[in-house]
Amino acid sequence: MALYAAAAAVLAGVESRQGSIKGLVYASSFQNVKQLYALVCETQRYSAVLDSVISSAGLLRAEKKLRPHLAKVLVYELLLGRGFRGGGGRWKPLLNRHQARLKAELARLKVHRGVSRNEDLLEVGCGLAQASQVPRFVRVNTLKTCSDDAIDYFKETRFYQGRASSLEDLRALKGKCFLLDPLLPELLVFPAQTDLHEHPLYQAGHLILQDKASCLPAMLLAPPPGSHVIDACAAPGNKTSHLAALLKNQGKIFAFDLDAKRLASMATLLARAGVSCCQLAEEDFLAVSPSDQRYRQVQYILLDPSCSGSGMLTRQLEEPGTGLPSKERLRALAGFQQRALCHALTFPSLQRLVYSTCSLCQEENEDVVQEALQQSSGTFRLAPVLPSWPHRGLNTFPGAEHCLRASPETTLTGGFFIAVLERVEVPSSVSQAEVSAPELRSSPSPAPKKKRRRRNAAAAPSMLPCT
Ligand SMILES: C[S@@+](CC[C@H](N)C(=O)[O-])C[C@H]1O[C@@H](n2cnc3c(N)ncnc32)[C@H](O)[C@@H]1O
Repeated sequence: MALYAAAAAVLAGVESRQGSIKGLVYASSFQNVKQLYALVCETQRYSAVLDSVISSAGLLRAEKKLRPHLAKVLVYELLLGRGFRGGGGRWKPLLNRHQARLKAELARLKVHRGVSRNEDLLEVGCGLAQASQVPRFVRVNTLKTCSDDAIDYFKETRFYQGRASSLEDLRALKGKCFLLDPLLPELLVFPAQTDLHEHPLYQAGHLILQDKASCLPAMLLAPPPGSHVIDACAAPGNKTSHLAALLKNQGKIFAFDLDAKRLASMATLLARAGVSCCQLAEEDFLAVSPSDQRYRQVQYILLDPSCSGSGMLTRQLEEPGTGLPSKERLRALAGFQQRALCHALTFPSLQRLVYSTCSLCQEENEDVVQEALQQSSGTFRLAPVLPSWPHRGLNTFPGAEHCLRASPETTLTGGFFIAVLERVEVPSSVSQAEVSAPELRSSPSPAPKKKRRRRNAAAAPSMLPCT
């Protein structure tokens, strides 16, 4: 096996917890163990830097056949290593084609971090340092206040710098300054160590402390006021409260969760946030029947299932090195995620679904989406969302670039994955009269809409009102 392929295989093995670097290097069929070990260790050391450069240069989007681990090894060798003295084979000319862009992205990273040597990138380039530099994002709860009022309040003690125009503005945020996020309209951004848990606006439910990546699912689902939405795995409810704010409390959210304790704290959170359009149910989403008449108007589903949490900032900061789940756990989680996504896609009026996880693992993300799309046999497709978002889905199947990824290195957020699925055609099994209410904004789906009368869904007896 060639050196670079062997190094990529070891990196993949380490990532999926098949063994330690040393163990996998010795188990490899590559003869020069010392050379392989050195290359893998160095690539791993620069992993965050390489991820950032590869993502900003769009290498994997441009070279569909290049696998992520191999790309990392090759880019390490090109930019930071020995420049392909170890061979490179057919990949060498491919990498050379992208050399100028990759070098420019590395140079840009150094300028932004204010360093001149590659080694200096390591201090701030390791995941831990990156995670600790993620700003404090604060979503203004528009059910209780508006951005202008929240900004005025903070202006009394801090300096407001206006709406940011780029990620660099967020990166440069310091001291008593704060900004509005460049992408999300109601998201305030404070320097990383800002603690607002005791702040009166937070205590009163006017502010929700929520990472930017975790605000994307509701924003991308974008249910218009009046619509019916399922939040399939809802507790502790930050995304539910965001959905309610987008709905302006008009319409209905059916929120399910299996965990009674988490549901109890969710009810408190929703009450504090002024949410009145949500019905909570302690129920297994897999057991919720798509043919139940109560859900006949549900056009939007948010599915944010249990996952390994491998992208969570708190995990990266508090348990560094614990990173990735075991193979068995991954298999179990992915199995559930798969079933939940396929189940959600069977709701007859569904037009748009957002699938999200705070996991970095392909098995819980791209693989789940790919399988569900295959099983839906062309009824659903990935919606091409946020084309300017810099970090895309891994290039594991055609169209995966429509998925979004997030990380401290590339988007200044926690690690996250999002896929937006939309129905390709209007379901034939359900009459349009039942899915299109005249007061609803036209669906994000391209399917044609007809004006029909609206029906009220009956309240589910098994559901507890949360406010
Ligand atoms: C990642 S958390 C959801 C976070 C939530 N969306 C938010 O933004 O606050 C996943 C949730 O799924 C719930 N869950 C796991 N299996 C479930 C199932 N079969 N049906 C419903 N909820 C489930 C868990 O109890 C957990 O609260």
